[in-house]
Amino acid sequence: MSAFLAVENLSHSYGKLEVLAQMNLQIEAGEFVVVRGASGSGKSTLLSILGCMLRPSAGMVQLKGVDPFSLSASERAQLRAQDVGFVFQTMHLLPFLNVLQNACLPIRADPQTAKAMLSELGLTDRLDHKPAQLSVGERQRVALARALLPQPKLLLADEPTGNLDDVNSGRVIDGLIQFQQMGGTVILATHSPPSALSRLQATQQLSL
Ligand SMILES: Nc1ncnc2c1ncn2[C@@H]1O[C@H](COP(=O)(O)OP(=O)(O)OP(=O)(O)O)[C@@H](O)[C@H]1O
Ligand SMILES: [Mg+2]
Repeated sequence: MSAFLAVENLSHSYGKLEVLAQMNLQIEAGEFVVVRGASGSGKSTLLSILGCMLRPSAGMVQLKGVDPFSLSASERAQLRAQDVGFVFQTMHLLPFLNVLQNACLPIRADPQTAKAMLSELGLTDRLDHKPAQLSVGERQRVALARALLPQPKLLLADEPTGNLDDVNSGRVIDGLIQFQQMGGTVILATHSPPSALSRLQATQQLSL
């Protein structure tokens, strides 16, 4: 397999509950993949596996030719830190850090770069706020900035526009498109209707 990201006969179960069964996927660098499916269909599970965070029950994952689950935990963490950005559905911002500090967290990013990205995402006036002082949609945009600042090769975005109005949803989508245009690979899990994502040129659509 020579794809940027490949999955072979991937299955995942939580105890007796089978969530993913015998999936096969080939994703080339620079693709924009949209994953759809009803609530509970396994989108977050798939993204967690592709992000090297959850070991699948069966099957193989290869990121740049390497099976992350054959590596030691620390090697896998290093691979993830180098190559993978993740916007979690539940965001995971640190409550005691403000917006700018949260965004800079993974790489101690240059604050000017971080401020520029936060401003593109409409957060200029919120840099000093703690997560508890933000709306859910604002938190989601901080999470996106935090994922993009380390310049990962692969961005996994789990419902990043779920709590956003059209304007802010557009900002997030623009951020994803821009990341792809700079050569990044995006995998987006979403419930949004295709019309809301019309500006996206998805290279693959996956239905779970
Ligand atoms: N840690 C876990 N232990 C047991 N069952 C789990 C666990 N995580 C998820 N599940 C179950 O696996 C199924 C798939 O969950 P997952 O979070 O992947 O769905 P999803 O497609 O992301 O849903 P949503 O659109 O609501 O975010 C669900 O039925 C869920 O209840
Ligand atoms: Mg989910």
